[in-house]
Amino acid sequence: MPRYQPRDKFYRMARQKGLPSRAAFKLEELLARYRLVHPGDRVLDLGCAPGGWLAVLAKAVGPKGRVVGIDLVACRSPAPVVITLAGDLNDEALRQAAYQALGDRADLVTCDMAPKLSGVRDRDQKAMSELLELALKTATETLKPGGALVGKVFMNAGLKPTVERLGAFFSATDLVRPQATRRGSAELYLVAAGFSRAIRQCAK
Ligand SMILES: C[S@@+](CC[C@H](N)C(=O)[O-])C[C@H]1O[C@@H](n2cnc3c(N)ncnc32)[C@H](O)[C@@H]1O
Repeated sequence: MPRYQPRDKFYRMARQKGLPSRAAFKLEELLARYRLVHPGDRVLDLGCAPGGWLAVLAKAVGPKGRVVGIDLVACRSPAPVVITLAGDLNDEALRQAAYQALGDRADLVTCDMAPKLSGVRDRDQKAMSELLELALKTATETLKPGGALVGKVFMNAGLKPTVERLGAFFSATDLVRPQATRRGSAELYLVAAGFSRAIRQCAK
């Protein structure tokens, strides 16, 4: 079993760059590898606090883009193109407010949401699966045709059927473990590209 290393290279890099966490490096790697975001794009970031991903996304979309972040806890906007909203993503009115703030359908939805862990395995897995379902629902409500979703997932029994189901909405899906992931972590990232409204309607 690899030893847990809370202060590895990515932890130190985040500290040096003044970033709130190592989370930013994971997203940077995924965006570069899959070319998921371009200047001028609109991005919805789910579970945005304390704001590491928001800073990366703001840089990637540039001054003509728009990034909207949602979190249970209030989060400071790191750049003028970023709007943050505080609340529970389960709240339909909040999802509507995010859509309004985006100004149009999103090119990319990113999700790094994680539940507060109870330590009870079944309960925690259920909470993680529910958050993933909520992210998928939000992505299908928000994305433009051809858009993409990047979301944190955890290796468990419910993951495979969920990824298979995504094939009904996206033309390509992949599961990746970014280099900045802590050793021993069960976390993976799901990348789904080529969102299709037509496929979605057929799947109903
Ligand atoms: C790992 S942190 C996100 C880190 C962030 N991506 C960054 O780069 O700073 C997970 C976040 O998910 C948020 N979250 C969990 N459940 C949520 C929900 N139902 N609605 C909105 N945010 C939620 C938590 O409040 C927490 O801040």
